[in-house]
Amino acid sequence: MNYTAHPARYGTMEYRRAGQSGLKLSALSLGLWHNFGHGSDIDEAKAMVEGAFDGGITHFDLANNYGPPPGSAEERFGKILKESLCSYRDELIISTKAGYTMWPGPYGDWGSRKYLIASLEQSLKRLGLEYVDIFYHHRPDPNTPLEETVQALSHVVRQGKALYVGISNYKAKEAKRAIELLKEAGTPCILNQVRYSILDRSIEKDGLLDAMGNQAGTICFSPLAQGLLSSKYLDGSIADDSRAAEGQFLKKSAITNERVGLLNELNAVAQRRAQSLAQMAISWLLRDERVSSVLIGARTTAQLNENIDALRSRSSFTNDELKAIDDIVGRWR
Ligand SMILES: NC(=O)c1ccc[n+]([C@@H]2O[C@H](COP(=O)([O-])OP(=O)(O)OC[C@H]3O[C@@H](n4cnc5c(N)ncnc54)[C@H](OP(=O)(O)O)[C@@H]3O)[C@@H](O)[C@H]2O)c1
Repeated sequence: MNYTAHPARYGTMEYRRAGQSGLKLSALSLGLWHNFGHGSDIDEAKAMVEGAFDGGITHFDLANNYGPPPGSAEERFGKILKESLCSYRDELIISTKAGYTMWPGPYGDWGSRKYLIASLEQSLKRLGLEYVDIFYHHRPDPNTPLEETVQALSHVVRQGKALYVGISNYKAKEAKRAIELLKEAGTPCILNQVRYSILDRSIEKDGLLDAMGNQAGTICFSPLAQGLLSSKYLDGSIADDSRAAEGQFLKKSAITNERVGLLNELNAVAQRRAQSLAQMAISWLLRDERVSSVLIGARTTAQLNENIDALRSRSSFTNDELKAIDDIVGRWR
């Protein structure tokens, strides 16, 4: 092991409570959905994990299916942990999830007790860990009784294989019920992980933040709308190494001339705040105290550093700025 963490790593980061739990998360968390699989550059992946920790990020977010291929992000993170961060295990919050397709047949998907317990076992092996800090149910399952899913989550906490549990992609009504059931089971839900950004307001329309109150925290994914809310598409071009060029989760067709114009208008608001567009998008989410953390998904250390700098360059939003942002987003088609 030749990595020594930066001694000033806790100096600039903010730490926020996850719901009503005793657990605090770094205001920024690093997500390993896309850029840490077998096809990615191992040295860059390691530099990003170490750089994130040096910047005060304590929370690293995974899922059984992150890669590509599925499982490879957990394997790679496990290797990085072993090589450089293992002596800092008690300073790390590592999460994983199960809920999407992971293996063939009826037991490798959704929300049954069979799937969730087997999947966590597999994740722990890939990560080389005895426990994860947070285990999430990744998406609601319309065909499994919520009571069964909740009992499985509660079980892994009692087994000591997860310290806390959360849910992800649950809408207001189902989130409220899951939170109640988990509370009754004695293993409170500490987080709901949801898509939220300047461009994606569906959780506002659903009333999710109000429905959850302060019972569980909210952790936001895709804060940059997968890169749209950054400088990379402002000139309308699509770089070969971008998520839009890859085309699986962000389509080239999402980068229309009209949208590029609106992104430039948002960028002008960011510039008046002395921030990059990515930094303003992150700051915009963190202005709501109910947001426990924002999950950033950088592909390079330069992107990571720019995103971490959102905390240093942050200032509160004026009403005029918020209105200008909403007016621009109101024209987004
Ligand atoms: N629970 C769920 O269902 C769920 C779903 C999705 C994500 N998540 C979690 O949330 C995390 C983040 O999601 P996300 O990857 O969609 O987040 P995101 O931050 O919206 O998108 C990440 C992408 O944006 C680009 N980017 C990031 N910082 C940039 C910068 N400063 N300048 C220019 N481009 C920048 C990169 O794109 P390029 O690759 O094009 O450079 C990067 O791959 C995931 O890793 C995962 O942990 C959870």
